[in-house]
Amino acid sequence: MSLPIATERLLLRPHRSEDLGDLVVFHSDPEAVRHIPWPVRDRAATEETLAVKLDQAELREPGQWLVLAVELRETGRVIGEVLLKWASERQGELGFAFARDVHGRGYAAEAATAVLDLAFDGLGFHRVSAVVIDGNDMSARLLGRLGFRQEARLVDGVHFKGAWATQLVFALLEDEWREPSAVG
Ligand SMILES: CC(C)(COP(=O)(O)OP(=O)(O)OC[C@H]1O[C@@H](n2cnc3c(N)ncnc32)[C@H](O)[C@@H]1OP(=O)(O)O)[C@@H](O)C(=O)NCCC(=O)NCCS
Repeated sequence: MSLPIATERLLLRPHRSEDLGDLVVFHSDPEAVRHIPWPVRDRAATEETLAVKLDQAELREPGQWLVLAVELRETGRVIGEVLLKWASERQGELGFAFARDVHGRGYAAEAATAVLDLAFDGLGFHRVSAVVIDGNDMSARLLGRLGFRQEARLVDGVHFKGAWATQLVFALLEDEWREPSAVG
C-alpha cells in the first residue's frame, strides 16, 4: 500500500497533529455526525480521537481500520476522512465523513473511488461493504453512485445514540467494480 494517494483534487494521507483545527470543523458539527456513531466532539475530544487516527495509517491484519485524512490539494485544508476496515479474509468495509460546507461537490465520491481502487487493486479484496443508518440518504445516494447494491435492511439492527435504529447494508463485489455494466 502506497500513501499518499493523489486524485485530481484531493490527497488521501495519514493524519497529522496539525490537522486538529480542520477536524474540529466537522467533528463538532451535530448535523455532520448525526448518522454516524461519533459523538459531537469539542476540541479536546477531537484531539483525543486524532491521537488514535495518527496510528491508523496501515492495514496489517484483519480487524484494523485504515483512516485517511482527505486534504484539498488546492488549499491544504483537511475536508473529511475516509475509512477502510480490513474486515475479514479479502473483505473490507468503507466509511466516510466530510465537512458540511464541502458537500455536493463530488469530493466524497472522488475519495471513496480512490479507496475502492486501493481495496480491490492494492489489497486484492473481493467484497467491500458499507453500513448506513436508515435515513442517511446522502450516504445511500453516494453508495449507489459508486455502484454498491443494497443487500439487507436490518430492522432495529443497532442501538444507536440512545434508540434502536434500522441499518442498511450495502456491498460491492470486485467484479461489479471492474465491470459495472456486466453485472446485475
Ligand atoms: C455521505 C457524504 C460524505 C456525502 O457527501 P456528498 O457531498 O453528497 O457526496 P459527493 O462528494 O459524492 O457529492 C455528490 C454531489 O455533488 C454533486 N457534484 C458536484 N460537482 C461534482 C463533481 N465534480 N463530481 C461529482 N459530483 C459532483 C453531485 O451531483 C452530487 O449531488 P446530488 O447529491 O445532489 O446528486 C456526506 O453527506 C457526509 O459526510 N455525511 C456525514 C457522514 C456520514 O453520514 N457518513 C456515512 C457513514 S458510512
